[in-house]
Amino acid sequence: MAGMHCTLIRDYDVIVTSKVFDPANSALSAALDCQRGIIVVDEAVMRMYGTSIRAYMEERLPGFISLVAHFSEQGKTLDTVLDICAAAQRHHIARRDVLVAVGGGVCCDLVSVAASLIRRGVPYITVPTTLLGQIDAGIALKGAVNFGGQKNYLGCFRAPSSVLIDPDFLQSVSRAELRSGTAEMMKIALVKDRALWFAIREHGPTLIQSGFRSPKRIGSELIDRSVELMLEELAANPYEEFGLRRLADFGHTFSTRLEELSCWRLRHGEAVAVDMALSSVLAAELGLLGEQDLWEILCLITALGLPIWSPLLTENAAREAVVAAVRHRGGALNLVVPRGIGVATFVERPGDLPGDVLGAALRRVQQYSADLRLTPA
Ligand SMILES: NC(=O)c1ccc[n+]([C@@H]2O[C@H](COP(=O)([O-])OP(=O)(O)OC[C@H]3O[C@@H](n4cnc5c(N)ncnc54)[C@H](O)[C@@H]3O)[C@@H](O)[C@H]2O)c1
Repeated sequence: MAGMHCTLIRDYDVIVTSKVFDPANSALSAALDCQRGIIVVDEAVMRMYGTSIRAYMEERLPGFISLVAHFSEQGKTLDTVLDICAAAQRHHIARRDVLVAVGGGVCCDLVSVAASLIRRGVPYITVPTTLLGQIDAGIALKGAVNFGGQKNYLGCFRAPSSVLIDPDFLQSVSRAELRSGTAEMMKIALVKDRALWFAIREHGPTLIQSGFRSPKRIGSELIDRSVELMLEELAANPYEEFGLRRLADFGHTFSTRLEELSCWRLRHGEAVAVDMALSSVLAAELGLLGEQDLWEILCLITALGLPIWSPLLTENAAREAVVAAVRHRGGALNLVVPRGIGVATFVERPGDLPGDVLGAALRRVQQYSADLRLTPA
């Protein structure tokens, strides 16, 4: 029998728009390929934008219902996914009907998992409303929930059919959440784009302070560029089948264990910031990163109000994170570390972290945190 081939890759559009729920804006209704569905809305977003969301649904999406829920990392569970599935069942969602996620990364993750389960898979669209959602979680083609105390233990690969990014949502996002989102922006800049890093350095504080309203054009440019870089990374290895060496995993080795140990008290981006700092100090300890670049990295993370160290990330916890990463990454550590600003490499095996290098790096980053007089995470 002749060999056959099945391509699993699917395309999706990422559309940047403004006032997405203004009934005059057709971007969302045009992205929908059906007449029925459920708009799953984060309660905080509904509180802020409910009037326009309801008006939009009345005018443009009469066959849709809304499901409003409180979404949080503590509630990123299978039970919450099942609540969405139950609503879909009550509303007789069919194979071609659609789920729309309107909320932060947690809402997008949950809807992605629910969409992959309902009738073995229904389409979904994301309208991410936090910075982290817009540049990372909402454009990703995977979703997950926490399970048995483990971060993202259960999940799926399922691309949205469209993503609509509306930076206007950021006006109501808290400064702390914007900082958390900026951590993911710094992540992608540090491993891929020096110019983006320095643009964040120049404009980040003002953008966070102003809810990305000022300087508005620069804010949109930084979001566009971060999305472009993330999509570039995803497109190269969408289902993580072509190896588990991913630059986008920078800041996501120790942070997973740290989030678990904090019982989801730490924001995702805060844990990523601690991880980026430790990974950078490790790079310096291994002779891969110059001291000047290391200082630049630690100073910008702290200047943006993010932590570089957490007492929860003990040496033991960091070692556990290394073991978990090796298990997750098919037997290799593949720790992403910067080699400079905008360029990174991988520490491939746990054995490439010799002797006490991890302990030494942890002590160093703790000292930097004290020197910079930071509140630890
Ligand atoms: N699927 C992926 O590839 C991927 C990638 C990165 C992160 N993630 C996940 O994303 C999650 C973090 O996402 P997040 O940082 O957006 O957190 P989140 O979804 O918890 O949102 C943060 C807070 O902002 C509120 N909020 C949302 N939009 C708002 C708005 N416009 N105005 C005011 N408040 C608003 C929410 O109610 C919440 O309290 C984590 O669970 C992380 O694991 C997933």
